[in-house]
Amino acid sequence: MGVYHIVGGKKLNGQLRIGGGKNAILPILASVILNGGISVIHNCPKISDTYVSIEMLKALGCGVNFEGDTLTVDSSKASTHEAPENLVREMRSSFIFLGGILAKFGKAKISYPGGCELGARPIDLHLMALRKLGATITEDHGFILCEANKLVGAEIHLDFPSVGATENVMLTAVFAEGATVISNAAREPEIEDLQKFLNSMGAKVTGAGTSHVVIKGVKKLHDAEHSVMPDRIVAGTFLTAAAITGGKIRLTAIEPEHLRPITSKLKEAGCSVRFEKNSVYLEAPPVIRPITILKTGPHPGFPTDMQAQLTALLTKANGVSMICETVFESRNRHIPELVRMGADITLSHSGSTSVIRGVERLKGAVVESKDLRGGAALILAGLAAEGSTTVRNSSHVERGYENIEKSLTDLGATITLVKDEDGVL
Ligand code: UD1
Repeated sequence: MGVYHIVGGKKLNGQLRIGGGKNAILPILASVILNGGISVIHNCPKISDTYVSIEMLKALGCGVNFEGDTLTVDSSKASTHEAPENLVREMRSSFIFLGGILAKFGKAKISYPGGCELGARPIDLHLMALRKLGATITEDHGFILCEANKLVGAEIHLDFPSVGATENVMLTAVFAEGATVISNAAREPEIEDLQKFLNSMGAKVTGAGTSHVVIKGVKKLHDAEHSVMPDRIVAGTFLTAAAITGGKIRLTAIEPEHLRPITSKLKEAGCSVRFEKNSVYLEAPPVIRPITILKTGPHPGFPTDMQAQLTALLTKANGVSMICETVFESRNRHIPELVRMGADITLSHSGSTSVIRGVERLKGAVVESKDLRGGAALILAGLAAEGSTTVRNSSHVERGYENIEKSLTDLGATITLVKDEDGVL
């Protein structure tokens, strides 16, 4: 348990280097067991989701060494097809290990990921796709057992461009006989990064970043080295932090194309944004402008992982904004907490559309982080609020942000993270 203490009212000002992406490193770590050898991965974020993935790899029999931001994994002794239940529960996205384990051992046992803080998180697309590749799937007492004597390439159409399902198919099909074609694949940049990593091990994957991904099965893979792409959501969060505090920020080591869906909305809110080669500079406007309608959607739409942070920003706009969450249900649990801080937000009955009437000032309060991005949004609101804010339950934020309190302090904010091992906080 930990809490963030924030004293609001300081404008962020300065420069920050953005590290490797959470949603890129996770599928890469799920695929390192495939080469039965050494994978050297640079630019790894030191976030709790990375550490859970490392525990998962160790449980599967891999040797892991994490030095600086370089992770070296030796999967030559990977020996079990069972993913420990406690780790799958700790990190829902560890379901992505299913594809890698199945491709490696011809069978996989993993606990059902169940619901989560973002609402029900179905896995029907994952299971449909694995069945098409030849897996037999049995669900028993909360566990999923996948078995395949032989995986064979297939044509797989996803009804929705699910990121996790696209990645699970890419991993499962690496050794399948013949070609696998995914249509309506997710187009997120992290899928391109996964393709790069798989190909660096000798896989034959093309089309990532488009809706049409082709995986030609190979017999074996070899050692690999890769550098993880920058975290576009962490970058978007810091840009929004500068915007909400009326500050100026330069982010380095970013990929401009990945950020455009986010910066186009920040510009609509009045921010001035300038890209240079691998950096972006944002200057906040004197007054935030409302955004008539902002809808989340699969890439290249506006990322659902930035919705909560934009909601926080628009609480301070000089007018009315509307945000429609179309990707996940129940992704608005930060809203009642923002209201405690003086925000004026009405949530529709379905819980997916919010109408935000900008207020002149937010007031510090004790609020609770309910999920990763919602927690980040509360920190942003705290930075812009009058007085002190306490954001409880730091563990959600620590899943995806490496020392957010240090980065914000370096940029001029007043924020500390207080850990309490006894759980009193
Ligand atoms: C990934 C990201 C997460 C991001 C999300 C959407 C990782 C580790 N996590 O999550 O940060 O918010 O993409 O960009 O990369 N769905 C089904 N059936 C399925 C699978 C998904 O109906 O079998 C639905 C989900 O309920 C959700 C939508 O599809 O409504 C999107 O989910 P998906 O793209 O799969 O997200 P994740 O891969 O879980």
